Amino acid sequence: MVNVLKFIDRAVKQIRDTAGQDKVVMALSGGVDSSVCAALATRAIGNQLVPIYVDTGLMRKGETDRIRSLFADANLRVVDAADEFFEALAGITDPEEKRKAIGEKFIRIFEREAKRTGATMLLQGTIYPDRIESEGGIKSHHNVGGMPLDIEFKGIIEPLADLYKDEVRDVAGGLGLPVEIQHRMPFPGPGLAVRVLGEVTKEKIAIVREANAIVEECLVEKYQPWQCFAALIGLGTGVKGDVRLHGWIVAVRAVGSRDGMTADPLPLPYDTLARMATRITAEIPGVARVVYDVTPKPPATIEYE
Ligand code: XMP
Repeated sequence: MVNVLKFIDRAVKQIRDTAGQDKVVMALSGGVDSSVCAALATRAIGNQLVPIYVDTGLMRKGETDRIRSLFADANLRVVDAADEFFEALAGITDPEEKRKAIGEKFIRIFEREAKRTGATMLLQGTIYPDRIESEGGIKSHHNVGGMPLDIEFKGIIEPLADLYKDEVRDVAGGLGLPVEIQHRMPFPGPGLAVRVLGEVTKEKIAIVREANAIVEECLVEKYQPWQCFAALIGLGTGVKGDVRLHGWIVAVRAVGSRDGMTADPLPLPYDTLARMATRITAEIPGVARVVYDVTPKPPATIEYE
């Protein structure tokens, strides 16, 4: 476990030394990693920092409004890039290709925004598990392995690169960030795209977004999982109002974990599962059935792709 105050001092110095007089852009997603990065960099370089929130169209329900109000006082730029992301994802079904397409888009948008703001450096909230999973070839995280090499930034600053998630949460506490941010569930960089098997479309994302919101409402407060979410895993037959339909199968996942490297499914009470299934099928017209995933990691991963 890191010594939080020492870590904060060292990170602030590292950011200040690396940035010099340059402007620095960063992706602010509102998750604990990027929020901690933003807070450290604000301490280090004040308004040389330009935090950018990219609305990829792949974010959770209400996320963009939440970020706007949470970071209302920061020098925040909100970029509406949903159409660009959906275009980039059209026709792609391979999970790694999806990640690469999203990673590439992300970087291009930052290059574009950096030019607009005069920023020459990039700050990233990469944490230790992101690095080892990318190096081990398990998957390319959009913020590491998926990064194209012709990047135009002068330098990249990754102050959290040696920390595990629980250590990042401790640093968030040390920085006095709101408890809501400190305890937020991890959310993958490629967003809801990895919670739709196969090709990503606006319609599928709209469905999985609603399902994720219901799962979070049902589970987060009561069971405090490491992560819980819904994924669209395929089509199956159902019957709604006397009509047979070919509808989506939603898989619900709720896991406990220390660092995301291994995970165990939560043994949720049956009535909680039944209520959640009823809500998802009743509130989302295109969903025909709901299943609960009881596979640990390994052998499964936490996300579906
Ligand atoms: P998996 O699915 O590999 O996920 O067991 C482990 C943790 O990482 C998150 N995750 C990602 N985070 N970019 C990210 O920034 C990604 O491409 C990505 N894929 C998975 C996942 O939500 C879990 O917390």
